[in-house]
Amino acid sequence: MASEVLWYIIPREGAYPWEPSGRRQVDLGYLTQLAATVERLGFSGALLATDLYDVWPLGSALAAATGPGFKPLLAVHPGLIAPTLLAKMALTFDNLFGGRLRFNVVNGSTTALREYGLDVEHDERYALSAEYWSIVKRLTAGEVFDHRGRFYDLKSAGASFGDLRPVQTPHVPLWFGGSSEPGIEMAAQHVDVYLTWGEPAHLLKEKLERVRQRAAAHGRTLRIGLRLHLIVRDTEDEAWAAADRLLDVTSQETYARQLGGNAAEDGVGWQRQFRQHGGRVPARARELETHPNLWPGMSLFRPGPGTAVVGSAAQVIERLKEYEELGVDTFILSANPLLEEAYRIGETILPALREHPS
Ligand SMILES: Cc1cc2nc3c(=O)[nH]c(=O)nc-3n(C[C@H](O)[C@H](O)[C@H](O)COP(=O)(O)O)c2cc1C
Repeated sequence: MASEVLWYIIPREGAYPWEPSGRRQVDLGYLTQLAATVERLGFSGALLATDLYDVWPLGSALAAATGPGFKPLLAVHPGLIAPTLLAKMALTFDNLFGGRLRFNVVNGSTTALREYGLDVEHDERYALSAEYWSIVKRLTAGEVFDHRGRFYDLKSAGASFGDLRPVQTPHVPLWFGGSSEPGIEMAAQHVDVYLTWGEPAHLLKEKLERVRQRAAAHGRTLRIGLRLHLIVRDTEDEAWAAADRLLDVTSQETYARQLGGNAAEDGVGWQRQFRQHGGRVPARARELETHPNLWPGMSLFRPGPGTAVVGSAAQVIERLKEYEELGVDTFILSANPLLEEAYRIGETILPALREHPS
């Protein structure tokens, strides 16, 4: 079985975009060039994570500039947009762009969501999420229904959609990443693709077994996606030198922000990543290589996926194949700068993942 491979697009782009000196000016032309490149190289689309720009205008612009091969995965927080409106936005998107939308269901952080007036704690957000996404799924499947739940009371939801019919069956797919118990339970019941950040294989194996068991208890099977950052160079030594450079160019302010404020984040997936380095900035990147080619150092300076696979193309392919052995069938990859590295990864790593072994 070949894996599906997506790239990653956010507007904060450059060689080390967490620092102003490593960030590139981007505009719509640049972002559409990136999306078109991703499509041309044979990635199946890209994750548009929550970042500087809202994903709906960005996703629409990129979908308009690309063809059927570029499927955007839009990160959406449940509860910020009324579910009926979100479903209408999704159906509009799919009608305009030929059924290419995928949702990345985001749980978010309590502090960040308060800015939007949503005051719901971590576990409670999953209860909201379960109700919210079950409504969105039914609406994007074309159903018209009344709903009375804990968070929403809807009358004739979907009745006004008229000729705005679903393009994808059975509904717009839900992808989701979360490692807490309520997150895994929500995934088991509602999502199509379970996503995780990179972790050492033995930890991931145990987590994925739990996810599969919980899904099986609901009579469901899930696809498994892995979000990884890559540092690939011609040789292993060059790749580790590139990782060293990231440590060297990162400012003390960034380390302090990331290891101070973000260390208290309530995401369990985040805490699992944080445990891999314990908040210590090493003198050389390789000091954190407790598993071959795996580097948890990214979470020292940037939020989100904190694990990179570092090495030559052959080594990185070997590691990714090991993840496939654990049942991973989807990869969301990134490397900086996103544009140049899309070429490198597209030309050196992607063909091996998309091969069909006999
Ligand atoms: C692959 C992947 C992508 C994610 N993308 C986003 C994102 O774009 N925005 C965001 O706020 N959180 C994102 N998250 C975080 C999750 O939505 C979730 O909040 C986090 O994993 C905490 O959930 P947990 O406590 O159940 O682990 C992502 C997580 C994963 C695994």
